[in-house]
Amino acid sequence: MEIKPMYTLPSLEPICSISTVAVLTSGGDAPGMNAAIRGVVRSALSQNISVFGIQRGFSGLLQDDMHLLNSSSVSNIVQRGGTFLKSARCPEFHDSNNRHRAAKILSQRGIEALIVIGGDGSLTGAHLFEEETGIPVIGLPGTIDNDIFGTEDTIGFDTAMNTALDAIDRIRDTADSHERHFLVEVMGRNSGFLATHVGIAAGAEMILVPEYAINIEEVALQLATSRRSGMGSSGIIVVAEGNKPNLTHGIAQQLEQHGLTPHISILGHIQRGGRPSGHDRVLASCLGSISIDYLLAGYSDIMVGVSDGSVVDVPLDDLIRYRKGLDPELLKIALQLHK
Ligand code: F6P
Repeated sequence: MEIKPMYTLPSLEPICSISTVAVLTSGGDAPGMNAAIRGVVRSALSQNISVFGIQRGFSGLLQDDMHLLNSSSVSNIVQRGGTFLKSARCPEFHDSNNRHRAAKILSQRGIEALIVIGGDGSLTGAHLFEEETGIPVIGLPGTIDNDIFGTEDTIGFDTAMNTALDAIDRIRDTADSHERHFLVEVMGRNSGFLATHVGIAAGAEMILVPEYAINIEEVALQLATSRRSGMGSSGIIVVAEGNKPNLTHGIAQQLEQHGLTPHISILGHIQRGGRPSGHDRVLASCLGSISIDYLLAGYSDIMVGVSDGSVVDVPLDDLIRYRKGLDPELLKIALQLHK
């Protein structure tokens, strides 16, 4: 019998020498980011590379807000949610002049490469930075949305899914007791990956995602029909927040016009916090650690992700060119389970 490890790691030959790197976390935080930073730092130190930890993502970089990390700087953080380096969204980094300023700040400190842990916006910034300044960059996918092209998994997704499931299982108890329908809003501004996985795992009656237009008549009909048949006196409809403000309240109002009175539960930022799951800790630790090997092997302008159980490198350029698609078959499966 052939034995296949859970993550197949590439074998990378070191071809260059690097003495100092920096790491930052950017965009929405995700559980497991601390484990990823720890992976970067411990792997770098073991290869005699110094690591600067940059505070608050690209904002901190532009303010030269960074300090050297040692092995004990990353002790006792693998189990913690959030990111001890702090995170931020940084509109200033959209400006090429600021990216050049950031490169100067790194060079003045003798930093030869940058590791960016974040979502697709942050990794797009990382790509432009590398392209314009030539400073090597490695990206790691850190987002609860799991919407990054080229990787089937992202740091934080598994934990966020389980956090949402824990909440929905509780909501289900009360929905059931009171014979109510609940619209449960999960995160996902542009993508329904979290909503779809949560919906399937929670046994949701319906899943509404930004990738597909919502047909209120159809939703109302399905709920009314299942109520009449006695099958659906209560139910959970998982809604991805989308990028329309108050989307879920709007859906509830429209359903009221069809004689239905769903309750609303917005899970919000609870999904971003909390202890990372074992899965996210392993994923983050492996990706963090191997990012240093990729740098030493001469790679740059890539994201290190996972595909078919193997750790892979994805050109950051591809993240801008392609969009990860939600497989409609998954939504079909979710629906089938409720026929
Ligand atoms: O990208 C991660 C994410 O949590 C999205 O799911 C959500 O739409 C967004 O960040 C919220 O961002 P913020 O916390 O900045 O409002």
